[in-house]
Amino acid sequence: MAEPAGSTDAREELMTLAATVRNHLQRKAAAGIRAIPKRRAAHGNSDQPAASGPLGGLDDNLFSDYGEARAADSLETLRAAIGDCRRCKLWPGRTHLVFGVGNPRAEIMFVGEGPGRDEDLQGEPFVGRAGQLLTDIITKGMKLRREDIYIANVIKCRPPENRNPEPDEVESCEPFLKKQIELIRPRIIVGLGKFAVQTLLQSKVPITRLRGIWHEYHGIKLMPTFHPAYLLRNPGDKKLVWEDIQKVLEELKTASA
Ligand code: URA
Repeated sequence: MAEPAGSTDAREELMTLAATVRNHLQRKAAAGIRAIPKRRAAHGNSDQPAASGPLGGLDDNLFSDYGEARAADSLETLRAAIGDCRRCKLWPGRTHLVFGVGNPRAEIMFVGEGPGRDEDLQGEPFVGRAGQLLTDIITKGMKLRREDIYIANVIKCRPPENRNPEPDEVESCEPFLKKQIELIRPRIIVGLGKFAVQTLLQSKVPITRLRGIWHEYHGIKLMPTFHPAYLLRNPGDKKLVWEDIQKVLEELKTASA
């Protein structure tokens, strides 16, 4: 019996769609990409984090290999779960995956954008010129030791030529930052610079308007401030960062009183 024309069209459309998806996944696999992060809803100009989901954010989906990371109960097991990561296209260009450094029970956590050249070579965040300035802020300004706090980045591998991380790279990597925050549960997060702050807050509001004001990240106080690399170019704004850091120190005193 002859098939109705509509049903042949639908089958052909389905086969074309299946072939397109297969080709797409084969190209991803050839590039070493084994996980396909779930796209989040855009949050426009809101300066609030996504309402959905707990801190973990390691959604299972097609080819996902975030399961072990989700189950991690320490920074060590999380690092082991990330492994020799090939979940996004940055892996071929890295020397080291830069996981994070510091006290796993830190009260303050600093979050930057992603490793630069020095960090990629040494495997530790904020060790270049901007890192030296951050270390000065921590040691000379806050009178703390670098080992007292925890430092991590939104993305763990250096983008080529230090370009801005791309959305798919952030989607692949940000779940690990969320898990780090969940494991450390700091009292305060200091977001360093536009990129980290806008990513954490899911916001497009300029850093000049976000900084110096308390925000919340899944129940944790978040203070946005300028990135140390920006301060190297604009030393006149160091006083603004110092104002932000003094708010952090005040809050720390209140919280421990
Ligand atoms: N800039 C960042 O955002 N992170 C680093 O680790 C180094 C420079």
